[in-house]
Amino acid sequence: MTPDLQNITREVIQISKAAGAFIRQELDKVKNHHIESKGTHDYVTYVDKTAEKQIVEGLQRLLPDAGFITEEKTIETSQKEFMWVIDPLDGTTNFIHGLPCFSVSIALMQKERVVIGVVYEINLDECFYAWDGGGAFLNEQPIKVSETSELQQSLLATGFPYHDYSRLEKYLELFTWCLHNTHGIRRLGSAAVDLAYVACGRFDAFFEYSLNSWDVAAGAFIVQEAGGRVTDFGGGENYIFGGELIATNAKICDEFLDKARSAFHKE
Ligand code: IPD
Ligand code: CA
Ligand code: CA
Repeated sequence: MTPDLQNITREVIQISKAAGAFIRQELDKVKNHHIESKGTHDYVTYVDKTAEKQIVEGLQRLLPDAGFITEEKTIETSQKEFMWVIDPLDGTTNFIHGLPCFSVSIALMQKERVVIGVVYEINLDECFYAWDGGGAFLNEQPIKVSETSELQQSLLATGFPYHDYSRLEKYLELFTWCLHNTHGIRRLGSAAVDLAYVACGRFDAFFEYSLNSWDVAAGAFIVQEAGGRVTDFGGGENYIFGGELIATNAKICDEFLDKARSAFHKE
């Protein structure tokens, strides 16, 4: 049976907003003793875990046969035809410091392809979403990537590597080039929001390495449905599970890929 993606998206938006309301309500209650470390500079609180459980429960009711890939591992399932890919709170470091940029990110994959993406930025109450073939939206208004056709006129976003420093030198080479040759670079602290902002034209491009599938699956799909292009650093398709991603408005894709290739793929 082919699921009704538009209707499912509507439900996923409600589930994202309910989790977002919980996260917002906990903002002032989180204290230092709630913060656990999962690894180098990688933090989590009860808020991430509780939000994930709420989201999983809602999605299980919606599509009982689908499986899950989730950041906080509150549920693990075998591979299924449909898989939900969830980051219940993208921007945890912002959240624990009270910096207002964090989001809920939920994608639905059918085999290798993403068919639904929802990114809910909690502070501005902005819900970005798309379903396969349906276009991309922000709070019910259609969105498109920017029209900027040269990197010289572009505003970029990135994320700084904070535990995998293996490619730091190459990353900084590309970063330095961008400082000299674009309108600037922003670091918001939520990859899902960075991607959503490329989708609606606030950013012209976003790049980062060492990301996980739950950081990017939803946002990358929304960029594509908004007319943008998403690749790995070599221009290939391995950007959801491959740990490196470039998202652009499509017009500056080749120019940016040239720069990324020469930084990351030289001997
Ligand atoms: C992080 C954010 C951040 C990015 C990191 C991610 P988290 O996710 O998306 O912007 O730079 O690589 O891990 O830990 O806040 O869910
Ligand atoms: Ca994340
Ligand atoms: Ca997270």
